[in-house]
Amino acid sequence: MGFSTSANRDGCDSANLFADWPNFNVGELRHALLRWYQQEGRSLPWRDTRDPYAIWISEIMLQQTQVKTVIPYYTRWLQTFPTVEVLAAADQQTVLKAWEGLGYYARARNLHRAAQAIATQHNGQFPQDFEAAIALPGIGRTTAGGILSAAFNQPLPILDGNVKRVLSRLIALDRPPSKALALLWDLSGALVPPDNGRDFNQALMDLGATCCTRRQPTCVQCPWQTNCAAYNQNVQSEIPMTEVRDPIPHKQIGVAVVWNDEGKILIDRRRQEGLLGGLWEFPGGKIEPGENVEDCIRRELQEEVAIAVEVGDRLMTLEHTYTHFKVTLNVFHCRHLSGEPQPIECDEIRWVTVAELDEYPFPKANLKIIEALKLGSQIPAPR
Ligand code: ADE
Repeated sequence: MGFSTSANRDGCDSANLFADWPNFNVGELRHALLRWYQQEGRSLPWRDTRDPYAIWISEIMLQQTQVKTVIPYYTRWLQTFPTVEVLAAADQQTVLKAWEGLGYYARARNLHRAAQAIATQHNGQFPQDFEAAIALPGIGRTTAGGILSAAFNQPLPILDGNVKRVLSRLIALDRPPSKALALLWDLSGALVPPDNGRDFNQALMDLGATCCTRRQPTCVQCPWQTNCAAYNQNVQSEIPMTEVRDPIPHKQIGVAVVWNDEGKILIDRRRQEGLLGGLWEFPGGKIEPGENVEDCIRRELQEEVAIAVEVGDRLMTLEHTYTHFKVTLNVFHCRHLSGEPQPIECDEIRWVTVAELDEYPFPKANLKIIEALKLGSQIPAPR
């Protein structure tokens, strides 16, 4: 029963896989996918290079971000930081500024730290060894597989969201992928050909992104149609089974655009640890139960930067969704009344002009505030 070629040579424990799927012929699956990729594969900038540094950058950007969003960031990044040494030597603010708008900023901080580790511990060369690669900050098993297969043609498995979906359908998985990760890793490892990890993994990602899509997959065009258990049972729209998730919490945040008498605005740099670490923001914080937004802003400004403010008009209300929670930002114009700002719950504070805001890296949700301030329609007249 099961896979009928050399899958076991790839170092994966696929003995059970052979037993479970009698109709799979690994050679046929590989051949069909690679032929499809030759005809239908996307032409993407990181596929024109073998430079492990450039490939690594693309894989990190693609972790949580769509291809079409990544392309301009990737191109600009390689102009700004053409080599691992240039990235390692850059200061963190420059790195975060280049990442601004891509979200999940831990990725940028980890890239920077990993570049420093590569420069000092690996002679400036991205490690070819899998264990050394996953020891770098921000590189997990699928990212290491993606980089080492693309750069060095290693036959390593990958298992990102798209690949989980493709493989779950291929075997008509009867559980959500998160409940079958070991099995899916084994399957990915059994499929990747020993001599063409590069094209095979890129093909698998493309199949998931363009054909075996979450909604309305185009099974008629799929190279694996005849092998696909979900298609054969006509259950492709029910697979992968959805994960049972608790609803994510929704936080209400009071945010202050604090003006001083010189028409400058107060910004603070978040602590390195935690969400959005190292980025700049407008001060503020979570509205406590029973508190109104004005009280929250006055309290937060006292606690965070030790100043008293008068809360004025609402500038805007913004919604933003992070992975594990949602926020509503209630943004108010405020006047600085008293107290020399102190970086009590942040790393640094500055008074800046509206024009200078562009020089600082801000979280994506804050960019709309900056746009509104630049339009300037609601800037209160100085006292
Ligand atoms: N997602 C993650 N890696 C990718 C790649 N190399 N090409 C397209 N999408 C991807």
